[in-house]
Amino acid sequence: MKNSHFISIKNFSKKQIEYILKTAEKMEDIIHSGTDIAKNKILGSLFYEPSTRTQMSFSSAMYRLGGNVIGFSDPKTSSKTKGENLTDTIRCVSNYCDIIVIRHPLEGADMLAAENSPVPIISAGCGTKEHPTQALLDLLTIKKEYKDINGLNIGILGDLKYGRTVKSLTYALSLYDCDLNFISPPSLKMNKEVLNYLNEKNIQYKEFKDVMDVINDLDVLYVTRIQKERFPDPTEYLKLKGSYKIDLSTIKNVKESFIIMHPLPRLDEIAYEVDNTKHAKYFKQPYYGLLVRMALISLILGLIE
Ligand code: NCD
Repeated sequence: MKNSHFISIKNFSKKQIEYILKTAEKMEDIIHSGTDIAKNKILGSLFYEPSTRTQMSFSSAMYRLGGNVIGFSDPKTSSKTKGENLTDTIRCVSNYCDIIVIRHPLEGADMLAAENSPVPIISAGCGTKEHPTQALLDLLTIKKEYKDINGLNIGILGDLKYGRTVKSLTYALSLYDCDLNFISPPSLKMNKEVLNYLNEKNIQYKEFKDVMDVINDLDVLYVTRIQKERFPDPTEYLKLKGSYKIDLSTIKNVKESFIIMHPLPRLDEIAYEVDNTKHAKYFKQPYYGLLVRMALISLILGLIE
């Protein structure tokens, strides 16, 4: 892992991913005891799109490792406003830091950054393609709840077309032996690129329009919001708004051990009344996000074996 870029789950083996997750679990001790293993190391945090959790958890992870963080969370305050291109920014910023975390709205921006950076690049979400560190924390959440990901029946609900977390999660789950169910309005189905990837690997999946057709058989339901900001036509968004919702009546007959996850932010797709049920795990995920980001930074910077 040392010095690797982390921009697609597809570039990593199951063994490597499992190793990151194992390292993440060990980070729990470090949070309590404190450490300075990243002393004198600087993380560059370049967020060209809004973020609450991902940006703050990368910063928190670096500070908890004893390192420092520089960067911006609003690209308007960067030289992008003056017209600077990403390549030039990366060439310069890489002098100031040992590792760069980047979130960008354009597909391929993460690759372009990696091609032009002498220091490792971690994607914090790129366009509609991937959000690889979210997939790590999603896997860790499932592992913490169920111990084994193999054998689980997993539903992924929502905007599968424009959402990026669902793509990285699907690539990650394809490394395990679990049942995949994609549930979405017809116009927001999982895109061909991901389905072709599964087909090539001979991985079975099912597609549903209505969550009620499958929810009572699921072990995990991963819910996502409709990605309003990515719709070319706002009227299309308005037609789909509110087209699915998980509330107490939806989960009335689910399995005892059934869990609901969400990368957040949540809008109206999970009713607040669900938050206090034993099934809701979406406010535990951000904690696991901190652990996996601490692990990833440590492994990539070679701070631990
Ligand atoms: C997600 C994202 O940015 O793709 N947020 C996150 O990082 N947890 C999901 C979303 O914005 O819907």
